[in-house]
Amino acid sequence: MFMSELRATELLQGKFGPGPESVIARAPGRVNLIGEHTDYNKGYVLPFAIDRYTEVAIRPRIDRKIHVYTAAVDETLSIELPLKSPKPQGRWSDYLVGILQEFSELGSFPHGFDAAIWGNVPLGAGLSSSASLEVAFAVALVRLYELEMDGLELVKLCQRAEGSFVGMPCGIMDQYTAYFGEAGQALLLDTRALEHEAVPLDLEGITLVVVDSGVRRALAGSGYAVRRRECEEATHWLAQRFPGRGIRALRDVDQKMLEMVRGEMPETLWKRARHVVEENARVLAMVKALERGDSEEVGRLLFSSHASLRDLFEVSIPEIDFLVDWGLEHGAMGARLVGGGFGGVTLHLVPVELKEKYIAEIKKAYWERFRIGAKVVEVRPGSGAKYERGPDHR
Ligand code: GLA
Repeated sequence: MFMSELRATELLQGKFGPGPESVIARAPGRVNLIGEHTDYNKGYVLPFAIDRYTEVAIRPRIDRKIHVYTAAVDETLSIELPLKSPKPQGRWSDYLVGILQEFSELGSFPHGFDAAIWGNVPLGAGLSSSASLEVAFAVALVRLYELEMDGLELVKLCQRAEGSFVGMPCGIMDQYTAYFGEAGQALLLDTRALEHEAVPLDLEGITLVVVDSGVRRALAGSGYAVRRRECEEATHWLAQRFPGRGIRALRDVDQKMLEMVRGEMPETLWKRARHVVEENARVLAMVKALERGDSEEVGRLLFSSHASLRDLFEVSIPEIDFLVDWGLEHGAMGARLVGGGFGGVTLHLVPVELKEKYIAEIKKAYWERFRIGAKVVEVRPGSGAKYERGPDHR
């Protein structure tokens, strides 16, 4: 349970007037500490939920209409049950319709609803505002209709909605973290077993700073899909080259195999595979470094993850490289691109005593170089999805 700040509830009442008791559901955005582009390769990731979230207030209607007001885009989605094979519109509402569509495959809702959505996760920036919206909305629906659905099922439903309706063939990390995140912890998630272990994320004297490049990942969906395909091709190539080794995903490949086929395997595929194999190893090394409280090793792993995303996986861009390199030269313990890439945000581990100066100067340097105002937010590992009953204003 949480004490909602009632922003979504106020919006709900402001937009749709008084009504019955509402359900309020909330789900956070995430930062991935390390383990990038490993989730759809059945590998390891180490994300944490952040203290920024999307909040949905929802209440039943007696008819079959659905109205969802979203503050972030100041738009109301209006549709009616039963859904009549909706098509994606390339808009924010696709996330909502995608979720409704997935629920409708499981059964029909007996009545419609009014809902309002408020959030403070920066949109489209690589902090998984979309997963936080999907998960908050799905939790709200489960509670409103009192459906039987466990957390993992809900997470998978949200991932499916994003892949099949929105058209972003994402892995499971973002939705999983939005649901299962734990305050003060990162989650070591094994994306094959779909099990996690909480890893305390508390680096003494270090603050977690997210610097938004301001470059939106407009093409991320397609670039991302290309990377996924390349990973599948690399898996296929390696499975044929090493029959009998049980290679079903890049998770099953090791460094030795890659050394053996260097120069033989198509170079692009080799580079993609090498990133994934080494990134998986970095995730496990990161868990050990965190357990030892070894901030230097933590930082080193972040920088090497970034170099690999830049040089081997090739999903960085000059703006992002600039922010990371600047960090390296100005006292960050570590920094890297976070999320799918092609824009978005960077994570910086900054010694607390440098914080103010660091933030002011990185903004200034970025502006001077690119004429883009970088938004900076400090994040803390927050908890996953929650819900509560709202006030009855009948
Ligand atoms: C996006 C996807 C995730 C993951 C990352 C890259 O955020 O939604 O599933 O693949 O990119 O690590």
